[in-house]
Amino acid sequence: MQSRLLKIIEEAERGRPMTVEEMTDIFATDDEDIRRTLFEVADRVRHKSVGDAVYLRALVEFSNHCRNNCSYCGIRPGNRQVKRYRMEPEEIVEALAVAHRLNIGTAVLQSGEDLWYDTGKIVWMIREIKERYGMAVTLSLGERSYEDYQAFREAGADRYLLRHETSDSELYARLHPGMTLERRLLCLRRLKELGYQTGSGNMVGLQGQTYLSLARDVELVRDMRLEMAGIGPFIPAEGTPLSDAECGTLDIVLREVALLRLNSPLLMIPATTAVATLDSEGRQQALQCGANILMPNFTPLRYRESYRLYAGKICINEGTEQGIEAISGILSSINRSVGKGPGHSLQTPGP
Ligand code: 5AD
Repeated sequence: MQSRLLKIIEEAERGRPMTVEEMTDIFATDDEDIRRTLFEVADRVRHKSVGDAVYLRALVEFSNHCRNNCSYCGIRPGNRQVKRYRMEPEEIVEALAVAHRLNIGTAVLQSGEDLWYDTGKIVWMIREIKERYGMAVTLSLGERSYEDYQAFREAGADRYLLRHETSDSELYARLHPGMTLERRLLCLRRLKELGYQTGSGNMVGLQGQTYLSLARDVELVRDMRLEMAGIGPFIPAEGTPLSDAECGTLDIVLREVALLRLNSPLLMIPATTAVATLDSEGRQQALQCGANILMPNFTPLRYRESYRLYAGKICINEGTEQGIEAISGILSSINRSVGKGPGHSLQTPGP
């Protein structure tokens, strides 16, 4: 078993994609040598395929209103403890001025699924960000109509993040009342078709999730030729039906990051906030087994405590400057540099 899995990892380094069964076995093994080799090889492939630069993405979490009632999420409408907020479009664009001054090349606009921000408001923000700052624009607004995706793209949006959360359609349906995995994947296909650099990703450690389904998460990102994937541990959120459930583990998150890097060498992979929340060394470790992106938070401090997707979320009391200092510290400690420019995906869009 050991030599078989080591051979599979070596072959992946030379470009052979893994089968779902092989990936399942890599998630499941308790052999330390294999785990160490997996991380080392993924770090090498990251170095060779996307280099040592870590690109920064300036995140603004601009509204915590949401029409979906996902059972894991701290800002689900069913959570009555949450103070709701909406930032005005001008305030959102203004929040990114600091990021622009710090030479960060990408703005990420994220919110709950909040249709108060109609087509016109989103289009206005995209244009303003482009005009004032010349930054790349990433949207993370959930499921919207084809017409909206098209209008945002025409206004200049470059990228879209829409996690598939889990590739197990039954688990997906249980966690997301009234929603389907099928619809999610349709949105992702539309985004790709419209020419967005498209990102997905999943949580790790959901109750009922198997190694087989995590292997399928990696396969989905590869087979859809997605440009980006964000992976984080599930962390219970207060005031939700899953508030007493167990967290996902750092180990399995890191294995997935490594498998994504081996199977989609040019993928943009963030070391996520959830990883940092779970373990103070989590981001460093993710960056050393495949990840190449960090997403510093530029949400004005007064709103941050209300965008608590899960318990203990970091950066809630920390100013933007402190966040950037923490990032500089992390990068110099692991000999990595800050990426310059927009940091677009190097992948070709594909068929
Ligand atoms: N634990 C971890 N991640 C979560 N997200 C939402 N709630 C939680 C939670 N309790 C993640 C989802 C979503 C992203 C914005 O945050 O994957 O896509």
